[in-house]
Amino acid sequence: MAFSFNFDIPLQTEGTNGDEHKDDKAQYADPICTETVPKMKDAIEHGHSADPLSQLDNWVPETITIGTLPPLLCLNESVFEKTAPEREDSEEILAKTLTQNSDLISGIYEGGLKIWECTYDLLEYIDDKQETFFGKSVLDLGCGAGLLGILALKRGATKVDFQDYNSTVIEQLTYPNAFLNCEEESDDDETGGENGSPPSKRKALNSQKLLLDHCGFFSGDWNSFLTLVQKKNPKPKYDIIFTSETIYNTDYYPSLHNVFCSLLAENGIVYLATKSHYFGVGGGLYRFQKFVEQNNVFQVKCLKDVDQGLKRHVVSLSFKK
Ligand SMILES: C[S@@+](CC[C@H](N)C(=O)[O-])C[C@H]1O[C@@H](n2cnc3c(N)ncnc32)[C@H](O)[C@@H]1O
Repeated sequence: MAFSFNFDIPLQTEGTNGDEHKDDKAQYADPICTETVPKMKDAIEHGHSADPLSQLDNWVPETITIGTLPPLLCLNESVFEKTAPEREDSEEILAKTLTQNSDLISGIYEGGLKIWECTYDLLEYIDDKQETFFGKSVLDLGCGAGLLGILALKRGATKVDFQDYNSTVIEQLTYPNAFLNCEEESDDDETGGENGSPPSKRKALNSQKLLLDHCGFFSGDWNSFLTLVQKKNPKPKYDIIFTSETIYNTDYYPSLHNVFCSLLAENGIVYLATKSHYFGVGGGLYRFQKFVEQNNVFQVKCLKDVDQGLKRHVVSLSFKK
């Protein structure tokens, strides 16, 4: 179904004559739910696979190093372009992004195959503040490559769930990235493996599995993701929810806000990284903040502003006391 972004037209709100739209902020209309939202993808939980990298040909790892953070390994995004025809593409997002030359096709592909720049802002913020995550339960919401959740896992989180809209992203990028990063240093075991496999590799696979046991992987839209995880016993609550570049589409604000309300622990924190404004789509920090204020559940605190080209921000949300 065709999807129309209808946020670029300034809306006249009830009781106004339109003069309010003269200033910069007021040109953004109130977030509204439209009838044109396409059928979203049902959520599923993805099982663990033995060695996800063995199923991927031509994968190229890249190391991302930020300040004093542990190095983060991830599959190089260019590999998706080069190998799209050979890959499993049941959602057809690899083919569509190539033919439509688009980073985002609303309701079909929400952009998770590339790392967006606000992820780096949030990683830098975490580095500046020397944040560790010992004992924390973490959700990387709209995770894409999953670097934020992976960092939390490397820094002591006891539970990390990853969610992306697209199952292709989870299976072909997030899960392999988590797997790559879960490899722990292991001393060579001179005695060799029982099944003849190199001992150090065997040990590494075991420790990968152990760390991955602390992770959950989900795809699907936020409404059905919430329904799915709330069926779990016990229902999850997260001390930390990371979410980067996920507030570009105002249609999704109610479901995003619902996830925060339902899944954030009482004293938990949402770290949200975003651009000021997403041209052509219409969302951005000002509109989201307004939506949050209208709902009156969370307080928003500005943590960091980046003023290079298009302004970017890191903010936190926590429950109002
Ligand atoms: C622009 S990408 C950002 C990916 C990643 N966080 C980053 O910064 O590199 C936006 C992400 O938000 C998620 N997303 C957006 N709208 C969604 C929705 N309505 N339901 C579920 N996930 C959604 C998608 O999974 C997508 O990967």
